[in-house]
Amino acid sequence: MADDRWRMGFHLMPPIGWLNDPNGLCQLNGVYHVFHQYSPDWPQPGAPRGWGHATSTDLAHWEHHGMVISPDTPDEASGSYSGCALVMPKAAPNGSDAVRFYYTGNVKEQGDFDYILTGRRATQILIESDDGFAMGDKQVLLRNADYPAFCSCHVRDPKVWRDADGTWWMILGARDVESTGLVLVLRSKDGYTWENAHQVRSDAPFGFMWECPDRVVLDGNTYLSCCPQGMQAYPWSHGLRDQAGYFPLPAGCDLSDADSAVRADEFALWDNGFDFYAPQTFTDAQGRTLLIAWMGMPEAPYVSAPNDLTWCHCLTVPRVLSRLEDGSIAQQPAPELKVLRGEKVELAGAGTSALLEHRADIEVDGIDGPFFLTLDDALEIAYDGSAFTLRFLDTEGVGAGRTFRNSALEALHDLRVLVDDSAVEVFANGGRLALATRWFPTADALRVSLEGTCSAAVAWPMGDGVRATYTQ
Ligand code: FRU
Repeated sequence: MADDRWRMGFHLMPPIGWLNDPNGLCQLNGVYHVFHQYSPDWPQPGAPRGWGHATSTDLAHWEHHGMVISPDTPDEASGSYSGCALVMPKAAPNGSDAVRFYYTGNVKEQGDFDYILTGRRATQILIESDDGFAMGDKQVLLRNADYPAFCSCHVRDPKVWRDADGTWWMILGARDVESTGLVLVLRSKDGYTWENAHQVRSDAPFGFMWECPDRVVLDGNTYLSCCPQGMQAYPWSHGLRDQAGYFPLPAGCDLSDADSAVRADEFALWDNGFDFYAPQTFTDAQGRTLLIAWMGMPEAPYVSAPNDLTWCHCLTVPRVLSRLEDGSIAQQPAPELKVLRGEKVELAGAGTSALLEHRADIEVDGIDGPFFLTLDDALEIAYDGSAFTLRFLDTEGVGAGRTFRNSALEALHDLRVLVDDSAVEVFANGGRLALATRWFPTADALRVSLEGTCSAAVAWPMGDGVRATYTQ
């Protein structure tokens, strides 16, 4: 793995096998913990899926600890699915912070079932840990019979928080028996015994299932983040069934309010690229809200990826969230990543510059008018004066639904492009627009071509912060 041509230097990816959703994100006693859906035995059929675990003290250098939650009880026989972490201040025996992990045990029964109304079990499970490493016993909290009767078998991905009064809240993504997506809201006094409180639905049906719900609070304003499935008919969906975005709640409303509802026409995509799903947020000790997402969208396949890769997918870099005046959310790479920067290279205002490695952090400021930044003559980031486009120029070997992404944009001022071998993240206008994509470059050196007017264009080669995750 350590020498794999396409492995990343600052995006988390599995040491081997399959990765999907980020799980259990938290900062505990100064250590950042990133868990993730993990199947080390992939591509073996039916490879068990549990939680992988990576840690860092600076968000730039990571270690990986393997699969730390395994599907080893009957309530999670088909996978220890996604979930969250809740930090318990000073709750460990030694007085330091402890943590609780809430996740979904998934079971698909053997037999002839539709797995929507029959044949599937979704159990919410709790694990307590004193340090984020040693895992306590698995405690079953909720089974299908505990959810409201209008639910199908699809109920998963708990996100838990506590409010100022000490009440515990849990949201769960759900599909009802009419195949409409929604979020269940549950309440608890202690985080162990839960009761159904209410639901959050959109004013008009919006997909058949909402996966991975999350509650984001920025400057006192609450957002419901979720991944609605069944979106392929919406014109902005690029024909893809699964989408990830957020709904702003009305001012002064929180998800704990019984009458909380969201508006379908206020749904905003988190990311306009090709590979972004199942984001999860957490608040760190500095009070920042950080988001990490799964950078993978298997629905639009990577035809250009070689078949014999022994690993699949990665996570985005941590993105710091901020609320803008219009209520939308900007995302910017965590500033900590700058410690991986090498020596600064000035990029020719117009023309081509070659960087030695395929890992670079590129910044362009003072953009005026149409602007084009092209990587290896293969991946174009273009602004034509009205639309911002991420486009693969050589569509040979690029999967259907993976050629371009368009977003309307009034003016482009600045660009930040993180190139990390087979992962690229683009941030425009201070992170008002974010686009993540995988790509599989074949050239040895990275060529950056610029066309258009800007006041400064620089790049830094980027170091390898995740090496330790492959060389344990
Ligand atoms: C989202 C998801 C979750 C589920 C997990 C299983 O990508 O389908 O709803 O918990 O992946 O790996």
